Amino acid sequence: MAINYQERIPNNVDLGNDRRLQRALEHWQPRFLDWWQELGPEGFQTSDVYLRTATSVDAKGWATFGAVKMPDYRWGIFLADQEKDRTIGFGDDFGKPVWQQVPGEYRSILRRLIVTQGDTEPASVEQQRLLGQTCPSLFDLRNLFQVNVEEGRHLWAMVYLLHAYFGRDGREEAEDLLMRHSGSEDNPRILGTFNEPISEWLSFFMFTYFTDRDGKYQLKCLAESSFDPLARTCQFMLTEEAHHMYVGETGISRIIRRTLEIMNELKTDDPAVLRKAGVIDLPTLQRFVNFWFSSCMDLFGAEISSNAAITFANGIKGRPDERGYEDHIAHDTVMNIEVPDEKGGVRIEEVAVRSAINDQVRNAYIKDCMVGVTRWNRMIKKSGIDFVIELPSSRFRRNIGAWAGVPTTPNGEIISEAEFNRRHDEFLPSESDRVYIHSLMQQVTEPGKMAGWIAAPDRGINNLPVEYEYVHLQ
Ligand SMILES: [Fe+2]
Ligand SMILES: [Fe+2]
Repeated sequence: MAINYQERIPNNVDLGNDRRLQRALEHWQPRFLDWWQELGPEGFQTSDVYLRTATSVDAKGWATFGAVKMPDYRWGIFLADQEKDRTIGFGDDFGKPVWQQVPGEYRSILRRLIVTQGDTEPASVEQQRLLGQTCPSLFDLRNLFQVNVEEGRHLWAMVYLLHAYFGRDGREEAEDLLMRHSGSEDNPRILGTFNEPISEWLSFFMFTYFTDRDGKYQLKCLAESSFDPLARTCQFMLTEEAHHMYVGETGISRIIRRTLEIMNELKTDDPAVLRKAGVIDLPTLQRFVNFWFSSCMDLFGAEISSNAAITFANGIKGRPDERGYEDHIAHDTVMNIEVPDEKGGVRIEEVAVRSAINDQVRNAYIKDCMVGVTRWNRMIKKSGIDFVIELPSSRFRRNIGAWAGVPTTPNGEIISEAEFNRRHDEFLPSESDRVYIHSLMQQVTEPGKMAGWIAAPDRGINNLPVEYEYVHLQ
């Protein structure tokens, strides 16, 4: 169904025919806008930003571009088209018709999943709210705001489901999504990673590369759900999410390119010299990769999880690209996973496939993360520099699961806690790394100009030149 932009809340769910739901959401809308003003991007609310807005949900024409003041962005409710006669794709009820309503017995588990997903969306906007003040270019500033408004829309996507399918509990949860705040002492966001402020752009690019990609995999699992409205919502969110990861991948790529330029110009790989020249040396970049990648590992949950087994068996949450698996029921099948033994070594444990769903999703994510890393390494090699960026082992720096609290090197080799502490600054960003990165953060707002630590992008947005004034500051 086409998106109706005549209504106060743009939508393709025929909202106008459900007066009660429409009224409830119109009641929530001003609260969302208040939240945006208070905790969305600091400053820039009256600036014209060159943003894309969804106009239809098909592959061809889902984005139109134009100058918009962020508070006027048309946040709305967009579901992918309904697939006719869709059937359940995995678990005990494989092949039966999907659900158009929430089955009573799965109500609380589905609500929790939707709330947890929904909570991350505004959280990331809150984490990034000060970044505009140190943007490396107008092009990057625009990309930040595009990501921010779309995370706001993802909140709408989850709030719609809560209002439409979960009655009074759902409405209360929707209110709470605006009450919890990232980093708040007494009412923080649900997941730990989403309570850390993102105060510099290297971390922003790492976040959009690694953490948004975690989001992609969570959405891919929910896009398989037997609860059809959730599946369709997540399918459409995935098209928006792709841009966020593009921002991360190209951002990191441009940082590396700039560093390579200076390395070749000065003929050095000495971090101290490179820092004096104002670029981010590759070992520092590697430590940030170690930090962000390992933070994301925990977001997939424990390797062995009875919860994951239950949501899979019940058809609530599948595996990414479930069609690609041979066995969608995985009833009595087993697989091997690596866990630490008690003697400081590793042993293989045989577990039910259903209990190891989290690990399968995590592995798919790791493979996907490798794509960009391989591309970066190709660029480094081509410029004649001897350095390889590596993803750390999934054992490294874990707080959840079989490897929680087991100190390892980034390669996954088990070491003593004393050694880990001693080598901390070799593995992870040190205080002085962070101070240095912060020292680079100076706002650049002249159209087409870039901060010294990042190369210009290959191309602009929507075929416009890089020099285009993507944000018109007021
Ligand atoms: Fe999102
Ligand atoms: Fe995102």
